[in-house]
Amino acid sequence: MAKKALVTGIAGQDGGHLAKLLHDKGYEVYGVVRGQMEASHPRYKKLKEEMPYAELIMADLLDLSALTRAVQAIGPDEVYNLAAISHVGYSFRDPVLTADVTGKGVLNMLEAIRLSGLEKTCRFYQASTSEMFGGLDYNRPGDGYDEDSQFHPRSPYGVAKLYGHWITKNYRESYGMHASCGILFNHEGDRRGPEFVTRKISQAVARIKLGTQDVIELGNLDSKRDWGYAGDYVEGMWRMLQQDKPDDYVLATGETHTIREFCELAFGQVGMTLTWRGADEKTEGVDQDGVVRVKVNPEFYRPAEVDILLGNPTKAEKVLGWKREVDFPGLVKLMVEHDLRLESPRAV
Ligand code: NAP
Ligand code: GDD
Repeated sequence: MAKKALVTGIAGQDGGHLAKLLHDKGYEVYGVVRGQMEASHPRYKKLKEEMPYAELIMADLLDLSALTRAVQAIGPDEVYNLAAISHVGYSFRDPVLTADVTGKGVLNMLEAIRLSGLEKTCRFYQASTSEMFGGLDYNRPGDGYDEDSQFHPRSPYGVAKLYGHWITKNYRESYGMHASCGILFNHEGDRRGPEFVTRKISQAVARIKLGTQDVIELGNLDSKRDWGYAGDYVEGMWRMLQQDKPDDYVLATGETHTIREFCELAFGQVGMTLTWRGADEKTEGVDQDGVVRVKVNPEFYRPAEVDILLGNPTKAEKVLGWKREVDFPGLVKLMVEHDLRLESPRAV
């Protein structure tokens, strides 16, 4: 009999990659989507076109009764809890909703499994995050944050995720649930939302190359992120749930790069050379013809920033046999090439 997997946040970046991976592995795939989507809803139709094999269920992470009904109807072998308010900048603007969805929503999902009497049979994956490390001067990554590093979240999102992380561990310890947390560092790709910096840059570079945009406005250009490819990371999620025992694992590349570096590589991908002039809010990225292509807009600064994220994936590599395939230049290339195809007039 095929295993049944329930994926919350199936409409998001990771949800799409994971649904395909599970389907390819022979799972029956069920996905939680929120809102009043009927079969005729354009967004629902688009999702069904993309993943015709997945059965979509309407439920909000805030709604314990709907989640419980979904779990009882499906009887999943594995639940992947990917749904969240996931944008760090937005979480400062809507911290209460972020706490409810990204934090308490995890408890709702765990309770839906427990109330359905499946806590001993259904395996659970929680999408934890490197944002939980955050970091201040005493908490620098050194050779990379690992599973034993100290947490110091720097955003309402990071704080909410830390609750989700610990409540998952608590259900593991209290009820013997096979519940694992993947502490994932940033992962990107062609399915990344345009509100995140990598996709914002790859989209803008494609448009600048095609002449439909002149300049991109960004916030902090000097923060550093450990960026991998989302397609590699969903494989790690699945591997966590195939282990005999539940545990927590860092997935990361072990490299960190600035936003500036991402910009330079992305412009380089379309044959443009970016050089920098000015400082702080007056910083500008200029192309080979002297045209300003990158500007700083303080509107995109955050009240508290995570200056550097660098992960150490040794445990996942040793125990899960996980390894990322796509490197940093490869990631930038695939994103820019994708957006060039998408933005090209012929693509429509
Ligand atoms: P994403 O693209 O933002 O997807 C999140 C999904 O959650 C969206 O489909 C969204 O639905 C859904 N959602 C939001 N609020 C909901 C609610 N109240 N009820 C039900 N669904 C709701 O995020 P992602 O990049 O795929 O990330 C997946 C998970 O991994 C998230 O939990 C994120 O915090 C975590 N994570 C991501 C990264 C990364 O670098 N991508 C790193 C570490 C951890 P709509 O489509 O309707 O908005
Ligand atoms: N979004 C955005 N937009 N970020 C910008 C911009 C901009 O215009 N300009 C500079 N940045 C900087 C941010 O200040 C941050 O330092 C960095 O770019 C990355 O921002 P995001 O791409 O929004 O990602 P994130 O690191 O804050 O959060 C992502 O990764 C986390 C894992 O570390 C999200 O996917 C989270 O859900 C995830 O948990």
